[in-house]
Amino acid sequence: MSERSDAPRHVWVDGRLLPSDGAHLSAFDRGFQLGDGIFETLRVRGGRATELVEHVRRLRRSADGLAIELPADVEELLATGIDALVAAEGHDGPDGDVAVRVTVSRGAIVGRGLIPADESTHPTIVIQAWAVVPPPVGHLERGLRLIASSVRRDPENPLATLKTTSRADYVHARLEARAAGADDAVFLTIDGFLSEATTANIFVVRGSELATPSLACAILPGTTRSWILRWGSRVGLVPAEGWLTTRDLAEADEAFLCSSVAGILPVTVFSGAPIGSGRPGPWTMRARRDREAFIRGDADEDDGDEDGGDTDGGEAGGDTSAGRPPR
Ligand SMILES: Cc1ncc(COP(=O)(O)O)c(C=O)c1O
Repeated sequence: MSERSDAPRHVWVDGRLLPSDGAHLSAFDRGFQLGDGIFETLRVRGGRATELVEHVRRLRRSADGLAIELPADVEELLATGIDALVAAEGHDGPDGDVAVRVTVSRGAIVGRGLIPADESTHPTIVIQAWAVVPPPVGHLERGLRLIASSVRRDPENPLATLKTTSRADYVHARLEARAAGADDAVFLTIDGFLSEATTANIFVVRGSELATPSLACAILPGTTRSWILRWGSRVGLVPAEGWLTTRDLAEADEAFLCSSVAGILPVTVFSGAPIGSGRPGPWTMRARRDREAFIRGDADEDDGDEDGGDTDGGEAGGDTSAGRPPR
């Protein structure tokens, strides 16, 4: 195992804190063998897990989708495990800022095949905690460059909206981005509508509208996405969930990605061409500031003024319905 200098020193496995450099799992574990598992990643700031309830709810949904049986007390189990691990890693102080990954596999079954004769097992539950590394300066000052992945998403696929550990499609898309000199890739649906990026949901701002692919577009229902939709209403933008095209992205005033750990990141280039001014937009940077304040516990959900505050976004108005797909 190659070791990074920021590597965690402990890992929580099925209720036990273990040294991170030891052996932890069975070679028969279904997560390892088949990607037969689910996961969540959340941010723990100052010892406080952000939106734990929402993450556990989504974990349960993913578990239901794959018929993985979670312990009835999974929420308390995870809350206790996260606290213990974050404290053991020394990130429980006021400045602690950690990306916590919870991985659950169906467990270890010593048997071959997709559904072995003896299915009885109990899930393997692992928690890891990684110090949050601020995004590279370029990502905030210059913004991300996106391409469209060649991997298409099928909105009818029942797994498309679950957070399973089968991530080969996502790795492939990231490799495509890297090969193209881009920072990330956005998936399109089989009909060519925007879906999501490899580890984040996507938003575009056009005039006063804050638009994002709807839940029908083969996306993960992001916890940050939900927060941003509520934030948008509070700050005077008009949230819209629908079917967006690559043209909507290319012609937007601003675009950004959002996820629990990375927060809000500006997108300034799509397929080699600038989006809007080609610089991170004012609404994007305000969303980032407000979300970070919320995660720090400095602001309630209700905070935020109604008129767009110090940004100069939201002024444009105009006919934002032209040339858009059906909603
Ligand atoms: C594919 C994908 N979409 C969206 C998200 C954003 O979800 P959240 O805001 O809950 O972190 C993630 C987060 O990891 C993701 O992997």
